[in-house]
Amino acid sequence: MTERLAIVILAAGKGTRMGGETAKVLRSSFNGPLLQEVMKSVGGLQPEKMVVVTGFQADEVEQSARTYRDELIEEHGQEFTASLEFCIQSEQRGTGDAVKAALPALDGFTGEVLILCGDAPLLLESSLVSLIHNHRAQDATLSLLTAHHSEPGSYGRILRCPDSGNLLGIREARDASPVELAIQEVNSGVYVIDSAFLPGSLSQLEPDNAQGEFYLTDIVGKAIEEGQKVVSSSCSSKELTGVNSFGDLQQVNAIQRERIIEEFTREGVLFLLPEGVVVSPKTKFGKGVQVGPSTVIGPDVEIGDNVVIEGMSHISNSVISAGAVIKWGCRIEGAEIGRDSAVGPFAHLRPGTQLGNEVKIGNFVEIKKSSLGNETKASHLSYLGDATIGAGVNIGAGTITCNYDGYNKSVTVVGDGAFIGSNSSLVAPVEIGSGATVGAGSTITKHVSKDALAVTRADQREVSGWSKKRRERG
Ligand code: UD1
Ligand code: CA
Repeated sequence: MTERLAIVILAAGKGTRMGGETAKVLRSSFNGPLLQEVMKSVGGLQPEKMVVVTGFQADEVEQSARTYRDELIEEHGQEFTASLEFCIQSEQRGTGDAVKAALPALDGFTGEVLILCGDAPLLLESSLVSLIHNHRAQDATLSLLTAHHSEPGSYGRILRCPDSGNLLGIREARDASPVELAIQEVNSGVYVIDSAFLPGSLSQLEPDNAQGEFYLTDIVGKAIEEGQKVVSSSCSSKELTGVNSFGDLQQVNAIQRERIIEEFTREGVLFLLPEGVVVSPKTKFGKGVQVGPSTVIGPDVEIGDNVVIEGMSHISNSVISAGAVIKWGCRIEGAEIGRDSAVGPFAHLRPGTQLGNEVKIGNFVEIKKSSLGNETKASHLSYLGDATIGAGVNIGAGTITCNYDGYNKSVTVVGDGAFIGSNSSLVAPVEIGSGATVGAGSTITKHVSKDALAVTRADQREVSGWSKKRRERG
């Protein structure tokens, strides 16, 4: 019994049912392009070679596959030694014809050939490992991976002898009788085949079916007729999801999303209501993190220990340090949030926002390209852009940094411990000295000295009894 493994990935199809302008295997699922996910699922199997059958947009598919291979090398290190080869199927005449196109790359190879479809990105490595083990243990010529599916749809149906349960072959849905269509065991499109059996069986295929194609599935029936040993292994119906339509792609995305949440839950993240939560796979979570409903996290987010995200927030490209609280309804992108800070509800932190420790950002505050020192507060209704704000500063409600004059952006600097009264406009470039106070309602256009008070509003006048007279006049 040999232990040599070659992998063939069928990736020539156009994806006609998805518009056909992008090669189907390069369409992106939630986790990444379909082909990338398929290659990832086999990266740990220690294959000797990996053959990708290309056709539609062959150059793009080839280039992408090379990038994914580099990622596998990065992930698996020296354990990944597979050569990557490409075979062109010039005309897409079916999956059997596609494997035939791969034969030149298998010339001289003796061992097992694992065949996969480039459009089925959810297969788990563990299912493939048991498929291969089962194949070897049973000394089979051909093994298939099948699943029970409550909605078997367009998948090929597995035909078995009603009495013995022995495999008979595969019938494509388009060619199936109503009775066959009712079968719920379906073909995943994944096979392990003895390399010696492959060329002969492929040469016997005929395109005598509804699509006029050379079906790879037909070699199963032929192998059985010849008396070869054909066995099956099973996987879950979710795992075999193949992408033929945008509806299928949605299903794949939903399953990938669910798997990621499950994984992070196992690692100790508490999702209060996981159903509507979307988290990128590479998110880094500390211990004791709590994530509320309808939250979207990623890409490139790092969340420290004990952070609480109340919910309904979208966080990307950001670092949230330990103990911070993100209250309901925030959009946070390209921001760094310091330890024990609080943000929101309804705050918008844009790229270049840097908050120190124990900073408080309240509702309807927008911050862009600005840093706020430790314990600074901007609790209500403010816009802070291109500002360097020190520690212990109070930014009153309605404070606006006027950073744009229609032509240029300018910088506002606020020193440590300054107090900016409510409804102030700080017209940049401008500097407020440390410990200074800006009176509420001021429009500050000149630098304010350290520890000074600056007020620009008009003096208040009072006309006694005016309102009463106005009322009486009617
Ligand atoms: C195929 C199987 C079906 C199985 C399903 C699982 C056949 C005939 N049918 O159906 O039994 O349930 O997968 O998802 O095999 N491809 C080529 N060249 C071609 C045709 C296809 O490279 O000429 C590639 C496609 O890019 C795709 C894969 O092979 O990645 C499968 O082809 P597709 O047309 O999607 O087959 P299904 O109809 O889904
Ligand atoms: Ca398919």
